[in-house]
Amino acid sequence: MTNKEWYKNITDNQIRHKQVDYVDEILSDFPFENIKCIETGISQNIEDGAFGLYLARKVGNDGIYVGVDINENYVNEGKKLFKHYFPDNTNHHFICGDSVEFLKIRKDGYNLAHLDSYDLNIHNPFPSMLHHWNEFVELKDVMPIGSIVMIDDNFMKGTTVYWNHLYNGEFVRQEKVPITYDIIGKGTLIYHWVKEMSDEWELIGDHYNSVDNIKVIIRKKI
Ligand SMILES: C[S@@+](CC[C@H](N)C(=O)[O-])C[C@H]1O[C@@H](n2cnc3c(N)ncnc32)[C@H](O)[C@@H]1O
Repeated sequence: MTNKEWYKNITDNQIRHKQVDYVDEILSDFPFENIKCIETGISQNIEDGAFGLYLARKVGNDGIYVGVDINENYVNEGKKLFKHYFPDNTNHHFICGDSVEFLKIRKDGYNLAHLDSYDLNIHNPFPSMLHHWNEFVELKDVMPIGSIVMIDDNFMKGTTVYWNHLYNGEFVRQEKVPITYDIIGKGTLIYHWVKEMSDEWELIGDHYNSVDNIKVIIRKKI
């Protein structure tokens, strides 16, 4: 079974199914034999997609997967989830802490990153954008050529976001939010920087003409 088929079998999340199609295609010629993967915002909930499980399967036994999350409960849930699907693996590491602070002190030669921590608030997206930019700043100069960085939860212009309002964790109502900027999401600042200001990184993938929740995917130019 391919990594993509395996992942689709373990989650019903249709947005993640679409994402894994283009991610898997992009990673099909990933140039590194040993994948050193960092995920900010540990995958712990299979209904949310737990994209890190796909990444861990892609990493296999020879590389490493490192997850960092600020919430200790989620770190423990993540550990349990990975243990369930990969009972024999000893190359998965789970860190509790702020992702930017962690990346300041532990670079560890990552060549693949999935940035998916500080939650996006569609009505105030700037703190999330900035947090993910700060994560990228810690990685961009030290990652080797050919590295790939993916940033989750982005909506392109023309998308309607169905935003759920919650009160004390309970669903209250759904609001339709039209996206009128080029892109709103965790990766907004990284997207614009790569497109307009960087000679070193390039935007990759052909999935940006989309009205779904998408990953911004960039590569350090070869
Ligand atoms: C969207 S979830 C991660 C989902 C996961 N990557 C997946 O694919 O299923 C976001 C996670 O980021 C964590 N988080 C929020 N702020 C953070 C920060 N400053 N540093 C590290 N993790 C953070 C939250 O605790 C939460 O578990």
